[in-house]
Amino acid sequence: MVNFHRARMLPHPPFRGWCFWTGGGVDRKIHAATLIDDGVGQTNIRRCVMHELELGKAFTLMEPGPVVLVTTHDGQKDNIMTISWTMVMDFTPVFAITTGGWNHSYAALRKNRECVIAIPTVDMLDKVVGIGTCSGSDTDKFGKFKLTAVPGKVVKAPLIKECLANIECKVIDIVKKHNIVVLEAVATWIDTTRKEKRMVHAVGDGTFIVDGRKMDRRKMMASKLPYGV
Ligand SMILES: Cc1cc2nc3c(=O)[nH]c(=O)nc-3n(C[C@H](O)[C@H](O)[C@H](O)COP(=O)(O)O)c2cc1C
Repeated sequence: MVNFHRARMLPHPPFRGWCFWTGGGVDRKIHAATLIDDGVGQTNIRRCVMHELELGKAFTLMEPGPVVLVTTHDGQKDNIMTISWTMVMDFTPVFAITTGGWNHSYAALRKNRECVIAIPTVDMLDKVVGIGTCSGSDTDKFGKFKLTAVPGKVVKAPLIKECLANIECKVIDIVKKHNIVVLEAVATWIDTTRKEKRMVHAVGDGTFIVDGRKMDRRKMMASKLPYGV
């Protein structure tokens, strides 16, 4: 049975209309219709139904991209993990990743305070998922996934030759309360010969979105872009 919780008029012209809530729990919906006065005597109705999403799924709307591989070197062995929780913190370039002691890589990150962020492309998706579902504690991931470790310029963690780009990083902070590892890039490499350049973005539920059409708003954003970018 439909359960009408509340109904109200949307007040401000040219937007007039109504909205009401139905259902409860995970089935809760907001129904809205807006009457839009187009200014030349026509009134259009725009309808929508917003389904309430479980709070635990909110992050799937915000997941940034791209999915990256993070290499470390613990003094003896190279390792790789997959990371989708990343953040660009400013233009300097400082980045953050979220990870912690549940991963074998974390001990090397904490001890040696270095890593490489390697950017894979869509043709590497199965390797990316494979790397993120096994542990360097018992697996040589460079061997298992047929990837080539290349020495970097500054850090001991290796670049991944097969990736589109590699960013050598130093760990500059660890915010333990939120498992945030803050990284400063010290050298960056990009493979300009590579044909496949599409990166993948994790939704967070086991599905991925592949880069699509590139849209140019450089003129509109000119005041916000750093010099030379
Ligand atoms: C697509 C994908 C994204 C992942 N993102 C993260 C992440 O952002 N942070 C994290 O701690 N683990 C993440 N993981 C899990 C780690 O990659 C995984 O635990 C991996 O086995 C760690 O390797 P290690 O034990 O050799 O360090 C992700 C895994 C996959 C498949």
